[in-house]
Amino acid sequence: MDKFEKITLSMAMVLVVIFIASILFAKDVSGIDLPDCIPYDAKYATPKVEQLDDSTVQAFYVAKMWGYEPSVIEINRGTTVDFYLSSKDVVHGFKVEGTNINLMAIPGNVNKFTHHFDKKGVYDIVCHEYCGVFHQNMMGQIIVR
Ligand code: CUA
Repeated sequence: MDKFEKITLSMAMVLVVIFIASILFAKDVSGIDLPDCIPYDAKYATPKVEQLDDSTVQAFYVAKMWGYEPSVIEINRGTTVDFYLSSKDVVHGFKVEGTNINLMAIPGNVNKFTHHFDKKGVYDIVCHEYCGVFHQNMMGQIIVR
């Protein structure tokens, strides 16, 4: 290998390491919450909403062509929601407008994300991954009272 090639490759490796380290550093400093991928279990394939305590809700979402189950949930302002998301058929998206909730619904996988809703309103959930002919109609809602 040429000396110049070695130097270029070494510098590229150093840049990749700096790039990854800066992402991890920014995540810790700014407290950004990343989605977790948790091991799949059939219990996540049943759509439901469970109240854990006065301020915490677990929402088990199942995406399917072309909607979400549950399609609409209502919660109180100040509620922290643990989202568990899986898919019944193909890959779908799960973006809650006006928040940083942005997940993928993947068959045989469960994605978990926690969000605290401190503002009242109606939050639309949209699918942002092309999933078939009625992809554009795939929506849900979170109503925060
Ligand atoms: Cu589901 Cu697009």
